[in-house]
Amino acid sequence: MELHINGERHDVPPIWQDEQLLFVLREVLGLVGAKLGCGLGQCGACTVLVDGEPRRSCLLRPQDVLGAQITTIEGLSRDGEALHPVQQAWLDERVPQCGYCQAGQIMSAVALLRRQPRPGDADIDAALAGNLCRCGTQQRIRQAVHRAAQ
Ligand code: FES
Repeated sequence: MELHINGERHDVPPIWQDEQLLFVLREVLGLVGAKLGCGLGQCGACTVLVDGEPRRSCLLRPQDVLGAQITTIEGLSRDGEALHPVQQAWLDERVPQCGYCQAGQIMSAVALLRRQPRPGDADIDAALAGNLCRCGTQQRIRQAVHRAAQ
C-alpha cells in the first residue's frame, strides 16, 4: 500500500491495511504527533488532514485514504525550522497545558483558517467542538486562532 503523507510517498506493508490509520502513522511511520485518546472518533486527539479536511485517524483505515494527501502535524513545518503560523501562535499564546490534545487542536485550526481566514469566536468554537481539552485551554485556543489569522 502506498500512502501520501506530508508530501512524501510511504510504502506500508499490507498487513496493516485493516488497522487504524492512527496506528499506521504512529507505529509504522513514526509520526507520533497524532495521539490516541478515545479511539472512537469522539475526542479529536488523532486529527489529521485528509485532502485538507480534518479527519479522525482512529476512524480511518489505510485503504480509506489511498490516493489522498494526508497531512500530520509533523508536515505543517516542512523544512523543520520555521513553525507554521498556527504553531507559532500556539506558542505565543502559551496554549498547551498537558499538551496531549494540542496536535489535534492545531490541525483543526489549520483547516478552519484555510476555509475561513478571519473566523469569529463562534466559528472557532464550532470548528473545534470535536476537539476536547480536559485542561480547559479553549480560551487560549480562541486567542491563538485569532493571532494566527492576523
Ligand atoms: Fe480518535 Fe479520539 S482518538 S477521536
